[in-house]
Amino acid sequence: MSKLTLDRILQSQGFGTRKWCRELISDGEVTIGGETVTDYRAGFGTAGLAFTLFGEEWLYREHVYIALNKPADFECSRKPSHHPGVLTILPEQFTWRDVQPVGRLDHDTTGLLLMSDDGAFIHAQSSPKRHIPKVYVATTDEPVTPALTGQLLDGVKLHDEPAPLAAQSCRMIDTHRLEIVLEQGKYHQVKRMLAAAGNHCSALRRSAIGALTLDALELEEGEWCYLDDAQLMLLAPT
Ligand code: URA
Repeated sequence: MSKLTLDRILQSQGFGTRKWCRELISDGEVTIGGETVTDYRAGFGTAGLAFTLFGEEWLYREHVYIALNKPADFECSRKPSHHPGVLTILPEQFTWRDVQPVGRLDHDTTGLLLMSDDGAFIHAQSSPKRHIPKVYVATTDEPVTPALTGQLLDGVKLHDEPAPLAAQSCRMIDTHRLEIVLEQGKYHQVKRMLAAAGNHCSALRRSAIGALTLDALELEEGEWCYLDDAQLMLLAPT
């Protein structure tokens, strides 16, 4: 089992610079197995390592995989300009760990957003070659009709896209709501597809990615959770 010194462990988990982590340890703010550890050079195996910092319990994680039920009025971009960034919803150490959103939701789109500090995972999940279905619930200004769902299934031509884009599936939920499943993740895709089909999207929520659903995660808007291996498996392409 690989061992790391306690200052490196704390730093790797996003609790600040090495110097700052050393101070926290020397000040007696860290316990392991119920004992306060004040020697920052003490080595510990990282697998399954539990520790407390300021009395709060943490588990060592090489990478973090997070699901957030994104509220409206938060931006996914690295440099948010008009609204706070989604990272501000999470504890500060995730910013230090360089956690990033996997893909983007518009500032006014709510629902399931994955976040991680594992570059390979972010890349794999974002790759257009993976064909991971994303499920959205769109609220529309004009009524949802069979003609509308038919158009979205057949494909609509978007400005700047060489070929028409089609929904993988699409069904009416009620007079002004539809569920649409997309395999691509083009800029404003749902809103632009609805506009191209003669309607207007007034609200958008992502309810699932692959077989991972927000309902199963039971997250209220603004809540987040770590994803375990079984949940990550649900993100595989269909
Ligand atoms: N399609 C959109 O139009 N916006 C999103 O945020 C996601 C998909």
